[in-house]
Amino acid sequence: MANSKVGGEFGVKIGILGGTGRMGKGLAKAWARHGHEIFIGSRDPERAKQVAEQIAQETGGKLHGVDLTTAAHEGEVVVLSLPYTACADLLRRLSSELMGKIIVDITNPFGAVLEKQTSGVEENAKALGVPARWVAAFKTNWWTTLDKPVNKDGIVRDCFYCGDDQEAKEIVAQLIREVGFRPVDCGPLKAARTLDLMVPLMIELDRRLGANASLSWKLLD
Ligand SMILES: NC(=O)c1ccc[n+]([C@@H]2O[C@H](COP(=O)([O-])OP(=O)(O)OC[C@H]3O[C@@H](n4cnc5c(N)ncnc54)[C@H](OP(=O)(O)O)[C@@H]3O)[C@@H](O)[C@H]2O)c1
Repeated sequence: MANSKVGGEFGVKIGILGGTGRMGKGLAKAWARHGHEIFIGSRDPERAKQVAEQIAQETGGKLHGVDLTTAAHEGEVVVLSLPYTACADLLRRLSSELMGKIIVDITNPFGAVLEKQTSGVEENAKALGVPARWVAAFKTNWWTTLDKPVNKDGIVRDCFYCGDDQEAKEIVAQLIREVGFRPVDCGPLKAARTLDLMVPLMIELDRRLGANASLSWKLLD
């Protein structure tokens, strides 16, 4: 990992699968501003190139628009930012590119894992079929808040994350800080079972309160 120093300035190559979407673009912008090299991965490399160029102009960062295989291959950290239902097939296809990588799973499985007492990230890890350093993160953060990490009352939003690989978690925690959120370590990967359930409740509360995709969970002491 290029100049990988957790806690200070560090540069890492980040592949974003589904990087043309709302979350992917928001994360790419934040990380491009911090000098990371970003590979926007899409099923349509032309679309990826347009998005990469647009974000490069906006941020002055270094971005590339590529296909999904290239994004997975180039990224030292790879973010899954596509629909959960599309993940298993893609992960099986990309197992050689992703083996041993830090994978940040932001996907929300909603009802897909409820019956099985499991989580989206655990199912994705099984689908990949080779070892990787999985971290679940950003699941409970609306895309609209990626450029508003501090809310209207001046409170820094939390980003809950979990995983079993301590070094991978420290790197992801730093990436979370760079978005402007406060990272909250929720423990082992299986804590994602709870995070997955916090998402539909967050969406329901957002709807009831008419918050227009702006709510965040906040841990206080
Ligand atoms: N929206 C939120 O506030 C939010 C918050 C936290 C987590 N999440 C999770 O983050 C992920 C992305 O959400 P999003 O809101 O950014 O979605 P989005 O705006 O719909 O973007 C998803 C991207 O995934 C790609 N994609 C769609 N179908 C695909 C398929 N079958 N195979 C491969 N790629 C496909 C598309 O890129 P191409 O067409 O260019 O390939 C698309 O740009 C989801 O799992 C979601 O649950 C969302």
